[in-house]
Amino acid sequence: MTDALATPLTDLLGCRLPVIQTAMGWIATPRLVAASSNAGAFGFLAGAVMTPADLAGAIAQTKGLTPHRFGVNFHSFQPGAREIVEIILAHSDRVGAVSFGRGPDAGMIARFREAGIVCIPTVGAVKHAEKMVALGCQAVTVQGGEGGGHTGAVATTVLLPQVLDAVPVPVAAAGGFADGRGLAAALAFGASGTAMGTRFMMTSDSPVPAAVKSAYVGAGTGDIFVTDKIDGVPQRMIRNAMTDRIERGGAAARWRRGLLAGLAMKRATGASWGEMLRAARSMTSHGDMSLPEAMLAAAAPVLLQKAVVDGDAVEGLMASGLVAGRLTDLPSCADLLAGIESDARARISALAGRQIVNAGEV
Ligand SMILES: Cc1cc2nc3c(=O)[nH]c(=O)nc-3n(C[C@H](O)[C@H](O)[C@H](O)COP(=O)(O)O)c2cc1C
Repeated sequence: MTDALATPLTDLLGCRLPVIQTAMGWIATPRLVAASSNAGAFGFLAGAVMTPADLAGAIAQTKGLTPHRFGVNFHSFQPGAREIVEIILAHSDRVGAVSFGRGPDAGMIARFREAGIVCIPTVGAVKHAEKMVALGCQAVTVQGGEGGGHTGAVATTVLLPQVLDAVPVPVAAAGGFADGRGLAAALAFGASGTAMGTRFMMTSDSPVPAAVKSAYVGAGTGDIFVTDKIDGVPQRMIRNAMTDRIERGGAAARWRRGLLAGLAMKRATGASWGEMLRAARSMTSHGDMSLPEAMLAAAAPVLLQKAVVDGDAVEGLMASGLVAGRLTDLPSCADLLAGIESDARARISALAGRQIVNAGEV
């Protein structure tokens, strides 16, 4: 009998379970990536907010914490991107995949593929999935509007089948997944697995300070909303005093925040203003952002730092999937993935059994 949880995604990534732990800035650290990978998932390091030196250190640390292959998330417009690509390629013995939103061209994707590194971008629209596959990506993660961080307007239940119909590669379903029921449902849709951010952030293995984890545990679905006031692009987060102020503030306040975030980003990444501007410009070259918006977007991840690194649930920004509104616990990755595996298997068996009963009744 074939294993229902052995899918084209587990084949491609070489993991035991068809579950991806997605990259989350400041959160998907070596500790979380190793914990998720050791428990059977495929973890991605959040390289998009790291300097090249930090990423090299994080890769080395992750290698020491898990014997499994893992992934790196980056953006080809981030400061130091070229160096980051070379670092990833130099570690192709253990870096098994890269994820990215936009950026890499066919040449860069070909280099990763030649090194045996799977390219699995996150997409939020059918046309982006088609483009990424045309550029040579071997799989995609499709994120529906329920998802945390930057997110689209189309719900996972609508977007996922659209993407599945449009591209001939393995698809991981993201946006709203947290348990074995979701995994069984994603597989029933025809996806090859699920990709989860918020659920992995809400584990005892994630490095987020306790006060902020409590805010996520305490949030209901009504406390989680989408705003485009932070960097001009819709982002899903938990409402707090900071988001209230941002929502009320005008354009001048947004520019001031962008500048402050840019300064913080410069400090964190060691980038020059020239590099920051080039990063912003390359984002605008994709045509869907103005330069001011892109400048804010290039710096915006730092705004999350205050919450998820410093532990400030009032003044920091807490990006979150809608699913946090129904999660009330902080399991270890080992317990989480054991539960997901057994629940998904039980659901799939129950459905298969029901089919036989129904067939017998006919
Ligand atoms: C706190 C937080 C931070 C995130 N940071 C990033 C990031 O740095 N890069 C990225 O590509 N996606 C980021 N995301 C999106 C996730 O990788 C993932 O696509 C999303 O969380 C999936 O939806 P879910 O939260 O419903 O599981 C973030 C999401 C959250 C909740």
